[in-house]
Amino acid sequence: MNIPFPRDFLWGAASSAYQVEGWATADGGGPSVWDTFTHTPGKIADGWNGDVACDSYHRWAEDVALLRELGADSYRFSASWARIDPQADGRWNEAGIAYYERLVDALLAAGIEPAVTLYHWELPQAAEDRGGWTVCGTAEAFARYAGMMAARFRGRVRIWYTLNEPQCTVGISYGDGVHAPGRKLDAAGQFRVLVNQQLAHGLAQRAIKAADPHAVVAIASTGRACYPLEETPEDIAAARAACFSTNGGDWAFTHHWLLDPICFGRYPHCAGTAAEPLAASVTPEELETMHAVPDALGINIYNAHAVRAVDGGFEFAGRWPGFPRTAIGWPVTPEALDWGVRILYERYRLPFYISENGVACADVVSLDGQVHDPGRIDFLERYLLALRRALDAGVDLRGYYYWALTDNFEWSRGFDARFGLAYVDFRTCERLKKDSFHWMQGQIARCKRG
Ligand code: FCB
Repeated sequence: MNIPFPRDFLWGAASSAYQVEGWATADGGGPSVWDTFTHTPGKIADGWNGDVACDSYHRWAEDVALLRELGADSYRFSASWARIDPQADGRWNEAGIAYYERLVDALLAAGIEPAVTLYHWELPQAAEDRGGWTVCGTAEAFARYAGMMAARFRGRVRIWYTLNEPQCTVGISYGDGVHAPGRKLDAAGQFRVLVNQQLAHGLAQRAIKAADPHAVVAIASTGRACYPLEETPEDIAAARAACFSTNGGDWAFTHHWLLDPICFGRYPHCAGTAAEPLAASVTPEELETMHAVPDALGINIYNAHAVRAVDGGFEFAGRWPGFPRTAIGWPVTPEALDWGVRILYERYRLPFYISENGVACADVVSLDGQVHDPGRIDFLERYLLALRRALDAGVDLRGYYYWALTDNFEWSRGFDARFGLAYVDFRTCERLKKDSFHWMQGQIARCKRG
């Protein structure tokens, strides 16, 4: 199937340091909270860890070759803060930086634009020991590292993401404790984790711009996305209301509680809800610091909720028995990339990148030695058709990054969730292109031909 996109639309694939690199403490790197967490019994499915992961620390050239063969315009990967700044105090580990120099230079030589996430959850353990995201010192340390990176890579890296999915750091890392560092704070404590990350974004964006005025600064946001059950004006209005509602406790996994202060300098309206005292605890100075409008927004989006209008309000439509789901149970809702994205764009009106979207399938190497993944191809066709509709509806969409280039270490699920376009045999770390890799290659090539 041919899904037309403009010629200059940017196609990419994504990854993150802890999930693919392995060897976190090689060459002077420091442990991150993920190293500590994965080595704590009972935290990760089957007791796995990312000590080796995809061995991209040594096999990065193979990853670049895959991207080149795919026809990718861009690679979104993360630099491990702990590898570069082991104590989170500005004593840079040159050997750690050199790894990213090699990767960036190889990407540029292959004509692939690096898009670097500065923080994809690899918090230096040293920073966590000083309070982690519960203290604002972490925001300051992060900004120092961001500024150094922008200066070091000026002229080579244009696209920077400050933070990946702060919502998950709030709710999963410091809320239910399922991700590193595994803390379980109350609502007020979790809210400070949000505030400190917003400060980190604001300070880092300024530091990056000071080091390189040509940098494009983005942040990768995730959270509840909604679409109308029927395309009626009532259901569309209900979907908007549901996407941006705040009924007290549900602020953590939303886009607007992260992005409103960053883009508009204020928290969402929450008078009379349980969230009101939280928002009121933020000082005007803090609000000013976090108010740093990005050049673009990265939206990490995998699924969305159907919403219908009821009695002037809204309700989430239930999912029926047998609703399509991925191998890890996530609902398959292509509308996420159509209305889900449109509703977010109406509010923020910034250039959008789909910085992550993808699907976990139960991939196996078949008897013929290939990985046949028709489910992933079907997913891609449905989701990209929906994204095309968002583009036609006027969303300023600049690019799409498939998560992920290769299978990798999927956090608390260990190695059981295979998202890659390339299969990884985790015994040897060999990569094998799946059928979907070839599908994506064709899709990109057709778009480039126009
Ligand atoms: C996102 C994360 C990414 C990966 C995908 C499946 O929430 O940013 O690292 O785990 O989900």
